[in-house]
Amino acid sequence: MGLELKGCRTLVTGASSGIGAGLAEALAAEGAIVGICARRGDRLAQVVERCMEHSPESRMWVVDLADTDAVDRLAVDALDAFGGIDLLVNNAGIPKRRHVTALDIETITQVMHINYLSPMRLTMALLPQMLARASGTIVNISSIAATLSAPGESAYDASKAALTAFSEAMAVDLWESGVKVMVVYPGVIDTDLFSLPDNDVPDLPVPAEPVSVAVDAILGGLATGAAQVYVPEYFRDIAASKAQDVGKFLEGTAYLRHQRESKQGN
Ligand SMILES: NC(=O)c1ccc[n+]([C@@H]2O[C@H](COP(=O)([O-])OP(=O)(O)OC[C@H]3O[C@@H](n4cnc5c(N)ncnc54)[C@H](OP(=O)(O)O)[C@@H]3O)[C@@H](O)[C@H]2O)c1
Repeated sequence: MGLELKGCRTLVTGASSGIGAGLAEALAAEGAIVGICARRGDRLAQVVERCMEHSPESRMWVVDLADTDAVDRLAVDALDAFGGIDLLVNNAGIPKRRHVTALDIETITQVMHINYLSPMRLTMALLPQMLARASGTIVNISSIAATLSAPGESAYDASKAALTAFSEAMAVDLWESGVKVMVVYPGVIDTDLFSLPDNDVPDLPVPAEPVSVAVDAILGGLATGAAQVYVPEYFRDIAASKAQDVGKFLEGTAYLRHQRESKQGN
């Protein structure tokens, strides 16, 4: 049921920092052949060097996933380099902490492009060779924001909700194909995501967990063939309780945010 990581030809997007970097290194340590990509070549080089200590065939590509031609080239280059991709981890993503009244359609489109359209473009490019082998795994790093609709992040929430819905429907479409799909819902993980410019100051409802917690949960999900992974696991219960009464959940969220803002003197 679980994925054999030894020799597993893997592509992890957004692996220059945070969850992607930690996951790439952990997969390499398990014997996977890891390809990584992102825009910051200097950071990628450090990550790939650590991957190569365990997995010498590991590779890196400097790619801006906002560029659709570059996404297509990445798929071709990764297939050329490894002869196939067994595990695709669509991890690259950008935050957008911005109140809905301060959003514009260009920003909403940009976030949707990076967090939803680009990973789906890469997925569609790499899926045929998985189907031809009747074997493969696609991991999409969504967010708990996709289900809890974090306030002040509507553009981000929607992009992750789109990624989630596509993933779930794809999982069913591919049920008997030998290709598995796993969706990961991180809560609050201590990464650069909370200090990137052009975002409102984060209003974190819970303390941040270290990257290792997310990495261990993802490896655990791959080992069991899970369809969903929540990080930390208690977010599964919060998502379930929201589904029971959405109106009450939204009211409670608005109340808690008001309390936090009053405390901060906003
Ligand atoms: N941290 C959390 O609490 C949390 C919670 C829920 C979901 N997530 C999701 O987890 C994933 C990883 O985020 P993280 O928390 O580890 O933050 P991070 O450290 O900022 O990692 C984001 C990665 O995406 C890459 N990236 C962003 N835009 C890109 C682009 N246009 N082209 C290529 N690569 C791009 C970044 O690399 P470059 O800047 O070098 O391009 C970086 O490697 C994201 O999808 C995020 O939405 C995180």
